[in-house]
Amino acid sequence: MKTIKLNNGVEMPILGFGVFQIAPEECEKAVLDAINTGYRSIDTAQAYYNEEQVGNAIKKSGLPRKDFFITTKVWISNAGYEKAKASIEESLKKLQTDYIDLLLIHQPFGDYYGTYRAMEEAYAEGKVRAIGVSNFFPDRYVDLVLNCNVIPAVNQVETHVFNQQIKAQQIMQEYGTITMSWGPFAEGKNNFFSNEVLSEIGKKYNKTVAQVALRFLIQRDIVVIPKSVHINRMKENFDVFDFELSADNMAEIAKLDKGESLFLSHYDPETVKYLNSYGK
Ligand SMILES: NC(=O)c1ccc[n+]([C@@H]2O[C@H](COP(=O)([O-])OP(=O)(O)OC[C@H]3O[C@@H](n4cnc5c(N)ncnc54)[C@H](OP(=O)(O)O)[C@@H]3O)[C@@H](O)[C@H]2O)c1
Repeated sequence: MKTIKLNNGVEMPILGFGVFQIAPEECEKAVLDAINTGYRSIDTAQAYYNEEQVGNAIKKSGLPRKDFFITTKVWISNAGYEKAKASIEESLKKLQTDYIDLLLIHQPFGDYYGTYRAMEEAYAEGKVRAIGVSNFFPDRYVDLVLNCNVIPAVNQVETHVFNQQIKAQQIMQEYGTITMSWGPFAEGKNNFFSNEVLSEIGKKYNKTVAQVALRFLIQRDIVVIPKSVHINRMKENFDVFDFELSADNMAEIAKLDKGESLFLSHYDPETVKYLNSYGK
């Protein structure tokens, strides 16, 4: 598996498996199927309510813990130094591990500076191998960078062919933060899987729309974590390392960028209210 080097030297697989919206009762099997397919990097979160099932699957795989790269995220209801600190212990327990590979602040809301201090502490204690953020758009991201001790290794943001995060990635590159895509297929929105540009390009390489979309991000040094509960799709999404998109194809796909979210705006007060109320 191709890896990407984080700003502290830790190597992270460039392709992983996301478990958002996989119900707890389905999650253990899905993660085991993903592991059998070859995935070793798993992206979960406190707010997905399936950390325990991810931990179970990793245990049941029989593979050594060091073979895996586990990402989880601190939710807003656990924001603030004390609550975040306790929640990190809770995540470690649910994941049945004594370290997390990558720990992110899930949303830039609540007392996230307190959260980040707890994460910096956990990092210093070796409970976490790398720390970062998610959904931090350039303004909040830069403010955090200027007011923290450990520069975020990763920022996980909505990134796909329709919302390519070109400017955000440039800003993060200035500080050595890796862009990690959530929603690499935009969860199928905007007729993603029948997009004509991606489909035509795919024919040239004998690859699907999904594979072209992942390859586009990987070639931009963006970490991808596609989600699927279907083994055939897990395999399809994993099979993206035997071809390379030409510069012309990369430029064609770049034109699909609309530069805005297909999901929600973090600048909209209604989004802020909704996310703050989630999980309370
Ligand atoms: N930090 C955040 O705020 C945040 C937000 C959202 C997501 N995430 C993370 O990012 C991961 C990925 O994003 P996502 O789950 O939202 O969406 P996504 O990966 O863009 O899309 C998943 C959807 O695409 C379908 N799919 C997967 N592979 C396919 C293929 N090859 N062909 C056709 N359909 C396919 C899946 O269906 P089936 O499952 O039925 O196959 C599912 O409906 C999440 O699981 C989570 O770990 C983070």
